[in-house]
Amino acid sequence: MKKRILTGDRPTGKLHIGHYFGSLRNRVKYQKEYDTFIIIADVQALTDNFKTPRKVRENVKEVAIDNLAVGIDPQRSTIFIQSLIPEIAELTIFYSNLVTIARLERNPTVKDEFKQKKEVFQDKITYGFLGYPVSQAADITVFDADLVPVGDDQLPQVEQTQEIVGKFNRIYGKVLVKPEAAIDEFPRVRGLDGRSKMSKSLDNAIYLGDEAEEIQAKVAKALTDKNKIKIDDKGNPDDCTVFYYHQIFEAENLAQIRKQCQTGVRGCVNCKKELANNIIQRLAPIREKRKYYEKNPKVVEDILRNGTQRAKKVAQETLARVKKSMFLDYFK
Ligand code: TRP
Repeated sequence: MKKRILTGDRPTGKLHIGHYFGSLRNRVKYQKEYDTFIIIADVQALTDNFKTPRKVRENVKEVAIDNLAVGIDPQRSTIFIQSLIPEIAELTIFYSNLVTIARLERNPTVKDEFKQKKEVFQDKITYGFLGYPVSQAADITVFDADLVPVGDDQLPQVEQTQEIVGKFNRIYGKVLVKPEAAIDEFPRVRGLDGRSKMSKSLDNAIYLGDEAEEIQAKVAKALTDKNKIKIDDKGNPDDCTVFYYHQIFEAENLAQIRKQCQTGVRGCVNCKKELANNIIQRLAPIREKRKYYEKNPKVVEDILRNGTQRAKKVAQETLARVKKSMFLDYFK
């Protein structure tokens, strides 16, 4: 039997190249070796977007398309919608007995996100948001996942899952699989503005579906070494977002770019054009696939329907096992 993976995203926006290098690219590799489940976590998205349900709904489709466009193969991987698996919600309730409020309040990722979401929460955290790591533990364990490939910000959630599994198995018997995290290669891709994280809310992202002109315009505004103003000024490539992206996009002439920048024979305008062209080329197959799925929403819908059906079956089996272990298996 293949080992199993569970990973996924909150559908709150289209995915960008930060997601691509951070996780999507790995997912595509992993799916050959692992039985892969990809959750579109609409229920979790609502914990901090409960006032904007339409946004969540629209992005379920977008996130599905992004996964397919980068090469997630629906024949191998199971893409599904969280809210259509109520077994996850049931499991969340059972797990909530095994987690203290104090433990939830110590979760550094939840704390960070809470601080960033002032306009949603107005300084008062909700039960749902504080508790979402419990629901995430249910996402992972209902599929008996062995491995959870995520960015480093999700490590606390996997640790909390391990604790819940440990406690559950001690009390009710060895029922649940304890998952391991696999930390993504580039957990944080910097934004075009040089900030430490590319994100929709910071408006510094290149999206997988961006057209050539958009990419050119965005790269043209990217932050370069502030001290390099004229072409013949000597630049510091290690203090330049454009060079950083040349590295990520594996420019063929990387050593030459570095040298030319350092010796003042390379101008930033051209350097950016080169980068934009490389990005446009690299994203072209993804953009094309994205367009295909955008034009064929029925195909996407079928993939989600079939994936959810398969996910549901697995979840039902796990829940039956869980309920039995908790003496909740009435009327057999
Ligand atoms: N919390 C993840 C994020 O914000 C999304 C997510 C939901 C997830 N359930 C998951 C990730 C289970 C890994 C496993 O990106």
